[in-house]
Amino acid sequence: MEQPTYTPKEFASLLGISKSRLLKMEADGNFPQPHKQNGMRVYMPFDIPLYLNIIGKDKLVVNKRRQIFLNFKGGTGKTSVSAFYGFRLAQIGMEVLLIDLDPQGHLTQCFSIDYSNFDATLYNVLIERMDIREVIIDTPVKNLKLIPANLDLSPVELALTSMNARELRLRKCLAEISDDYDVIIMDASPSIGLLNLNGILACNELMVPVLADFLSYHGLKILFETIATIEEDFDFILDNIYIFLNHYNASLNISQRSREALQEHYSDYLMKTIIRQDTKMAEAASMGMPIHQYAPRTRGTYDIDAFIREIFPKLPIAI
Ligand SMILES: Nc1ncnc2c1ncn2[C@@H]1O[C@H](COP(=O)(O)OP(=O)(O)OP(=O)(O)O)[C@@H](O)[C@H]1O
Ligand SMILES: [Mg+2]
Repeated sequence: MEQPTYTPKEFASLLGISKSRLLKMEADGNFPQPHKQNGMRVYMPFDIPLYLNIIGKDKLVVNKRRQIFLNFKGGTGKTSVSAFYGFRLAQIGMEVLLIDLDPQGHLTQCFSIDYSNFDATLYNVLIERMDIREVIIDTPVKNLKLIPANLDLSPVELALTSMNARELRLRKCLAEISDDYDVIIMDASPSIGLLNLNGILACNELMVPVLADFLSYHGLKILFETIATIEEDFDFILDNIYIFLNHYNASLNISQRSREALQEHYSDYLMKTIIRQDTKMAEAASMGMPIHQYAPRTRGTYDIDAFIREIFPKLPIAI
């Protein structure tokens, strides 16, 4: 993963203005001095909020969001989609914090971050009361931060059992830093336990990737029942639930049928965007790279962008 940069043409088109206007406003001293790379003028994602402000456009994000990618069924794309989506949001200028809630550390590996880059996980925060700021690590992208995970996180379930307010510890710790980020994105493991319960209660939006098969469809029922119980027991309401199809192959009959079943029973939550099967997505994840850098113009990147436009319909930039 590398720090993304934009050429003047790309940057102007992202902001919805002409390159000549961008350069003229710069010449007039309206903008800060652009960065230089190998003598060329470049722009960084973290410049976007300032430029939007100067040209009088809306902020990228008005209400800060905390989202958890969750499905009790394994292998539906929680990790890959959350990683690629989180990276892309940072690439378009948002302040993003990704949290790996899975002791398998797959989200961490999606960014090629290995054990030598960190020595603490949420275990230290939730159980040993370490300051959450101490487990947030930098990535090569300035406005993308990560709370990584590895197997050291696995005893957290057992350790939480004997603690006070065990379900709400993550929410409490996040409250201290949530103002620093436009979006906080968590990648959950395919299980229901105290760590995932902490994740759900610390978020206001649930993102549910499903595969177009009937096993996934039945798994949703269990997920919705669990969420309903949590909402009742904790007097808590999620602001949004987004169900989306991932790994979709339109040529399969079963895909069409399970999509129709989802539309019939979950129309209030089902997203219009479908993330299609794309081998580049699997390749990118296994290479530890975001799809937008591994294969910038492929089905996967178009679908992730459509996904973002649906979740942030008022985005003041053109993607
Ligand atoms: N749209 C897609 N097209 C092709 N391959 C995909 C797509 N989405 C996910 N994959 C691949 O499917 C596999 C499972 O994805 P992923 O690990 O993201 O799922 P998960 O829900 O996080 O799994 P787990 O429940 O084990 O945490 C991975 O090999 C991933 O690269
Ligand atoms: Mg996963």
